[in-house]
Amino acid sequence: MTKKIYVTRKIPEAGLKMLRDKGYELDINPKDRSLKEKELVSALKKKDYDAVLCLLTDQIGGKIFDSVLTAKIFANYAVGFNNINVEEAKKRGVTITNTPGALTDTVAEHTIALILSLTCRIVEGDSFTRKGKFKGWAPMHLLGMDLKGKTLGILGAGRIGSRVAHHAKNGFEMNIIYFDVKRNEEFEKEHNAKYFGTVDEVLKEADVVSVHVPLLDSTRHLINKERLAMMKKTAYLVNTSRGPVIDENALVEALKNGIIRGVALDVFENEPKLAKGLSKLNNVVITPHIASATEKARDEMAILAATNIIAFFEGKTPPNVVA
Ligand code: GLV
Ligand code: GLV
Repeated sequence: MTKKIYVTRKIPEAGLKMLRDKGYELDINPKDRSLKEKELVSALKKKDYDAVLCLLTDQIGGKIFDSVLTAKIFANYAVGFNNINVEEAKKRGVTITNTPGALTDTVAEHTIALILSLTCRIVEGDSFTRKGKFKGWAPMHLLGMDLKGKTLGILGAGRIGSRVAHHAKNGFEMNIIYFDVKRNEEFEKEHNAKYFGTVDEVLKEADVVSVHVPLLDSTRHLINKERLAMMKKTAYLVNTSRGPVIDENALVEALKNGIIRGVALDVFENEPKLAKGLSKLNNVVITPHIASATEKARDEMAILAATNIIAFFEGKTPPNVVA
C-alpha cells in the first residue's frame, strides 16, 4: 500500500521531494496559513494517513491523534516540540520526531544579531535616522554597550546555547556563565564557562542574558517579575527559544520602569500577539519568530523531517525521536 502523508503547510521542496521520490502520496494544506484545529481534524479525517508532517504552529493533542488513528508518526518541522502533547502521543503509541541540529548555527547567528542590535542600538538608530532626526554627530547620542569583557549568561546549555557562547567568547571575548538543569562539563571546557546551580545567580551576574531552554511546565515564566528584578539595571535580555518562558507583561513593566536596560525577542508569549505596550518601547528589538529563517536551515529542517518519516516507514528508528 502506498504510504500517505499529510503535510500541514507547505515546507521547502528539499524535504517534499525526498518523500515523493520514495513513492509516498503527499497531501499538502493548500492554504498559505496554518490550519485551525477544526480544519486540521477534517483534513486528517479525509484519508487513512500513515504520517503527519506538522509545524510548531499546529497544536497537536488527543483530538488530532484521534482524528487520524492510522498515523503512527508525527514529524514536527521544528526543534521545539512544545506544540505536541507528548503524553497523549505516548498513550497511543505515536512516534514524535523533531529537527534538531539543522537550525543550530542559524538560530545562534540570529541571537548574536539581536544582542548586537541592542548593544549597538541598531534599530533605534535606524528609526531615528529614517525619521530625519539626524542633525549631525554628537558625543553623547545613542550610546550603547561594548561586549568585550562583559558577561554573557546562558540559560540552557544545549546546542544553540553552546553555539551562542562560542560566538560570544571567540568573537567578542565575553565571559560565559550558565545555568542548565544538568551541569555540562563539555560546555564549561569549550567556553571556559562558569556554572551556576540556579537561574537567579546567573541573572544577578550577567550583562547579557540569552535564553535557550525548551518550553516545559518547569520553564514557563522562568523569567518573571521577581527574576527580572534580580538582573542588573544595565543588563539586556534576549529570547530566541519560546515566548512563554518569559512573563511578557512583567517584562513590559520592567522595561518601562528601568529594571533592565533592554530586551530582544524573536518569540512571544501569545504569538503572534505582542503584550500590551511592548511595541511602543524604544528599548526593545522584535523579530517575528525568524531565528531559523534562512534557506539553508529551512531546507535542512525539511530534509530532517522527511528523513525521520522515511526511516520510520522503513522500520528503522528515526534519527530524531523525542517520544
Ligand atoms: C523554531 O522555533 C523551532 O523550534 O524550530
Ligand atoms: C537545540 O537544538 C538545542 O538543543 O538548543
